[in-house]
Amino acid sequence: MNSPAMKGLSLSTPAYVKNARLIAWVADMVALCKPERLHWCDGSQAEYDALCAQLVQAGTFKRLNATKRPGSFLAWSDPSDVARVEDRTFICTPEKDDAGPTNNWVHPSEMRALFQHGKDGNKALFDGCMAGRTMYVVPFSMGPLGSPIAHIGIELSDSAYVAVNMKIMTRMGRAVYDVLGVDGDFVPCVHTVGAPLAAGQIDVAWPCNATKYIVHYPETREIWSYGSGYGGNALLGKKCFALRIASSMGRAAAQEDGVGWLAEHMLILGVTNPQGKKYHVAAAFPSACGKTNFAMLIPPQGFDGWKVTTIGDDIAWIKPGADGRLYAINPEAGYFGVAPGTNTLTNPNCMASLQRDTIFTNVALTDDGDVWWEGMGDAPAHCIDWQGRDWTPDIARESGGKAAHPNARFTVAATLNPALDAAWDDPAGVAIDAFIFGGRRSTTVPLVTEARNWTEGVYMAATMGSETTAAAGGQQGVVRRDPFAMLPFCGYNMSDYFSHWLRLGDWLAARGAKMPRIYTTNWFRKGADGKFVWPGYGENMRVLKWMIDRIEGSAPGQANVFGVTPRYAELNWTGLEFSEAQFESVTSIDKTAWAAEMGLHAELFRQLSNRLPPVLEATRQGIAQQIAA
Ligand code: OXD
Ligand code: MN
Repeated sequence: MNSPAMKGLSLSTPAYVKNARLIAWVADMVALCKPERLHWCDGSQAEYDALCAQLVQAGTFKRLNATKRPGSFLAWSDPSDVARVEDRTFICTPEKDDAGPTNNWVHPSEMRALFQHGKDGNKALFDGCMAGRTMYVVPFSMGPLGSPIAHIGIELSDSAYVAVNMKIMTRMGRAVYDVLGVDGDFVPCVHTVGAPLAAGQIDVAWPCNATKYIVHYPETREIWSYGSGYGGNALLGKKCFALRIASSMGRAAAQEDGVGWLAEHMLILGVTNPQGKKYHVAAAFPSACGKTNFAMLIPPQGFDGWKVTTIGDDIAWIKPGADGRLYAINPEAGYFGVAPGTNTLTNPNCMASLQRDTIFTNVALTDDGDVWWEGMGDAPAHCIDWQGRDWTPDIARESGGKAAHPNARFTVAATLNPALDAAWDDPAGVAIDAFIFGGRRSTTVPLVTEARNWTEGVYMAATMGSETTAAAGGQQGVVRRDPFAMLPFCGYNMSDYFSHWLRLGDWLAARGAKMPRIYTTNWFRKGADGKFVWPGYGENMRVLKWMIDRIEGSAPGQANVFGVTPRYAELNWTGLEFSEAQFESVTSIDKTAWAAEMGLHAELFRQLSNRLPPVLEATRQGIAQQIAA
């Protein structure tokens, strides 16, 4: 990355930026992307306000009603840019096998030719990609600033929308440079909407490009994103860094200390019982399957004195501590959650978080300058939908058109969550007592199962299936294997990832550590009428309490072929009408359906066979035999 002389645009590096590698890299990227202006973000409130005002001016933001939703904005994206693009996401390792069969792969030199040097006589994709635009230099820390678990990234983006979202989602600003110092390490992240402006060309409200690439180089720990301005495609600290690059960093660290660390698609919550004893749970659910709701759960009737508090709602970085327990931090500082379906019954804490200082994307605009989405409450008589068209309940009935896009989002600071855990920002993290892995399955998978040991838990997580949601482009509602809810987010070979988890278990066991319990859940089983049987949301507390009873040794459970499940009488039913027959319909194990399910596990293992840990195949065979018996 030697810097060619920059023509025209001065770097105007602020005096507080002293990192030589950073300065040289920014010079290189300016020379490649050719922005018209360069803005070093300082993360101040004044800067945030000015950028939001600029976004209003550009038509990207609408300022919401200052009485109803103070400090809040609404953005509508281009209809072609509404979700993560998994088929355009690449892990570029020198060896294809290191990316593994579940990731899209291109050799780094080929990708670099395409992006930076030009290929087959064509101009490089990033050459001049920011023409006419401002390049924002966005310094951010994933994790509390200066924490030994945290890591720094610098995102160069030509989107002011990205800069303001990153201010909410990460610890973003000038203090990052103090931690970075002269020679500190950072993950370079380059993002462009891929829409250069010719001289005098009028910009659109949501620039983007039909061609999209979300690219990771795990060896050099770089991220390059082209063509999208939306969510995880563009806010590069989130999925690209905190999951794909970090998962590969955590595994590489094992080469040094024999265990490494984990970057997981998990919420982290604290649950305190009436006696004041506190437990911490990290739970992996695929995108748009209720992680934010679970992390902000309010215990229902029958749970007086119980309290649930949020440490994180999407990502956990987990490391073994000196005492042999696993400690988790939330690397993020905000929530980028799915709006549709969120309301004062499903998630009152979330609704309270969104009262002010929130950026909404792709929800509807009401006539009084507020927001609305399907599942928020009574529909307005009229509003403007996320594509800027009139929407009324009649129009919706006739056309089926949604006021909000199903993957519409809110971006809000964690500090606005009334249920925020006091330790959410603790650099040491919180000690994990249990892991939960939960898929969205209309059939087959029971409400809750506890693994009998670490290997069985890894097996359950590895073979998890889930119905796809609107969080990613592509068909919705089809069951796909989503190991550990990490299918779109694992930055290396999935079989190596399983081995990393198994090695962690061995490492903990060898130290006599108190191992977290491992559970699988499924809140989504449907009855013959096609409706969900389990009420979900706050009622999930009943299952959470059973897990704690298991940890305390006060719930015997019953063994089945996969692990241990609760008897009806072991759940606290106070305040909920839920019959034994209903319980049976969400917990029963249909052997025929499970024989078919085991076939899907076998198919996954065939796909991953090259490096699959043999103990997982042995576990599969053991379970398959018991089902067949
Ligand atoms: C997310 C996702 O945005 O998983 O968290 O898609
Ligand atoms: Mn997620």
